[in-house]
Amino acid sequence: RAQGLADRYGRVATDLRVSLTDRCNLRCTYCMPAEGLPWAPDDTVLTDAEVVRLVRVGVERLGIREVRFTGGEPLLRRGLEGIVAATTALRTPDGARVRTALTTNALGLDKRARSLAEAGLDRVNVSLDSLDPQRFARIARRDRHADVLAGLAAAVEAGLTPVKVNAVLQRGVNDDEAVPLLAWALEHGYHLRFIEQMPLGPHGSWRREDLVTAREILDALSAAYDLVAEPDGSRGGTPAETWTVRGHAGATVGVIGSVTRPFCGACDRTRLTADGQVRSCLFAREEDDLRGLLRGGADDATVADAWRAAQRGKAAGHGIDDPSFLQPARTMSAIGG
Ligand code: GTP
Ligand code: 5AD
Ligand code: SF4
Repeated sequence: RAQGLADRYGRVATDLRVSLTDRCNLRCTYCMPAEGLPWAPDDTVLTDAEVVRLVRVGVERLGIREVRFTGGEPLLRRGLEGIVAATTALRTPDGARVRTALTTNALGLDKRARSLAEAGLDRVNVSLDSLDPQRFARIARRDRHADVLAGLAAAVEAGLTPVKVNAVLQRGVNDDEAVPLLAWALEHGYHLRFIEQMPLGPHGSWRREDLVTAREILDALSAAYDLVAEPDGSRGGTPAETWTVRGHAGATVGVIGSVTRPFCGACDRTRLTADGQVRSCLFAREEDDLRGLLRGGADDATVADAWRAAQRGKAAGHGIDDPSFLQPARTMSAIGG
């Protein structure tokens, strides 16, 4: 473990999140401005081979055991299947296969779920904030609700399970959908998680007073369902607290209370942005460049050392409730959720 991605607070990152593009075909209001963002120039985005090399260094030298591909929208990346296949072919030093997952808006997943499963992808997490197509179109600023449902069904069909559904509730927009979303998820066998909105979208779009809190969501769910807490210790480093639902065998529902129930102390993550920067935390103030090292001809050991040094700079927590908190410059889609 001495060789792994340790920080100054005793945490060790074993979970790598790789953003494959900062672009997206939706414009969710809590994530991106309507007009989009100045996209990273093509020549600053890591090539497929560069992504695979960094993932390999992480797995072979730095203790990474689980890799999640994110965006922007990772399905926009044509080489995704190849990147997944190269990742699942890797082995950790103790011979284990790397677990792989995708966080996606599911547009086009209906056509690619099978090829992704064949490439070795284990599972997907899909964002869906409303059951109502018109509301969906208002939140995502694109009329694509049916495509998401088709993508979800294809993911189950292809065995990319458990399929998790992520929902961000916003006050006055979709905060009445906690119970309907759970009823729908139970019916379809999706593992639903409600996410507290974080200040990582368009600057000025987040207000603490408007936050739909984990407590509020759990109260609403508990009025309709009998939720049974999962045993302490079953959570590991994952952001979601989960419950089983009495009367629904195999079902779980979760809450990711990033703001009111922070889990930074157990964080096991490190991140790579699409342009090849190590970002030790979603809320990091600095990033450390690996792309320049790769393109300058550095060997794997040098890249691994730079990554270790970057992770040592990881902050203790996001500090959202600190009076001095300032939102990071890059927004969610550019960091990789
Ligand atoms: P699982 O392995 O399936 O539990 O994935 P996940 O929940 O870690 O990943 P996903 O991409 O589905 O993210 C769900 C939500 O959790 C998103 O809003 C993420 O931004 C948030 N999240 C993921 N990692 C972190 C983290 O390190 N810190 C914080 N604050 N939020 C995170
Ligand atoms: N706060 C919380 N979650 C967010 N996501 C995007 N922006 C935010 C935000 N500001 C979610 C998406 C997706 C996941 C990767 O992150 O809905 O499910
Ligand atoms: Fe795209 Fe995801 Fe951001 Fe929505 S939350 S705009 S789907 S990157």
